[in-house]
Amino acid sequence: MTGKLTVIGLGPGSPLQVTPEALAAVDAASDFFGYGPYVERLELRPDQRAHASDNREEISRAAQALTLAASGADVCVVSGGDPGVFAMAAAVCEAMEAGPPEWANVDFAVVPGVTAMLAVAAKAGAPLGHDFCTISLSDNLKPWSVIEKRLIAAADAGFVMAFYNPVSKARPHQLTQAFDILRAHLPGNVPVIFGRAAGRPDEKIRIESLDSARSDMADMSTCIIIGSVETRLIHRDGGQPLVYSPRSWSAGKA
Ligand SMILES: C[S@@+](CC[C@H](N)C(=O)[O-])C[C@H]1O[C@@H](n2cnc3c(N)ncnc32)[C@H](O)[C@@H]1O
Repeated sequence: MTGKLTVIGLGPGSPLQVTPEALAAVDAASDFFGYGPYVERLELRPDQRAHASDNREEISRAAQALTLAASGADVCVVSGGDPGVFAMAAAVCEAMEAGPPEWANVDFAVVPGVTAMLAVAAKAGAPLGHDFCTISLSDNLKPWSVIEKRLIAAADAGFVMAFYNPVSKARPHQLTQAFDILRAHLPGNVPVIFGRAAGRPDEKIRIESLDSARSDMADMSTCIIIGSVETRLIHRDGGQPLVYSPRSWSAGKA
């Protein structure tokens, strides 16, 4: 018997940023797997079951969800933001590829969500108006040397960058190193946006320059957007400046 597995994104935190498609998937499913704080955001009926687990248990969570779906249940795996951005959709695919053949035959769907970078960008203005890339600063799943290389390549190529997983208790120094690397490749006046807890009641958007940016301005709930040489500020009376990247590139050839 084959059931269904849907990986859904709940957006960055605001109930207004959960899509109708995600809500419909929640309504249809019987069992919900995810990191505790994400599962707690669901308003489940008495006939629906939550299976919360720790943050670092992605593959065993995916395996449990696939096992239950393969037995015929309608299962949801829940992520914050978008499930395809540094989240559970890829973990489920990894487990599926390594697992028994019946896992690959489960009816599988991914429901997109508003990723943190987009929620932060919207609060700051339009910093992603030109080409951009996203980089997770966590070296749990890749060597730090690869991250350094990507930072330099992205800076030299003129990309705006969005950093996910910028710091953690186990990695307190890497964001400082990342800023130091970027200062050697970008002007010090490039805008840097620290977007903390976007969409949640404790949301905080802070705008600095690359020269004034410090790692203690970020925590695990922060997404950082680093501007390009083209990214600029519009100062307005009585509010934070708008940060935006024009759609066209006028800084010359790379
Ligand atoms: C494992 S990644 C998950 C990303 C998520 N799937 C998404 O699309 O937003 C966790 C990182 O996302 C960022 N993040 C998640 N929610 C956020 C929020 N509400 N505001 C700012 N950053 C957030 C932070 O950089 C955090 O360290």
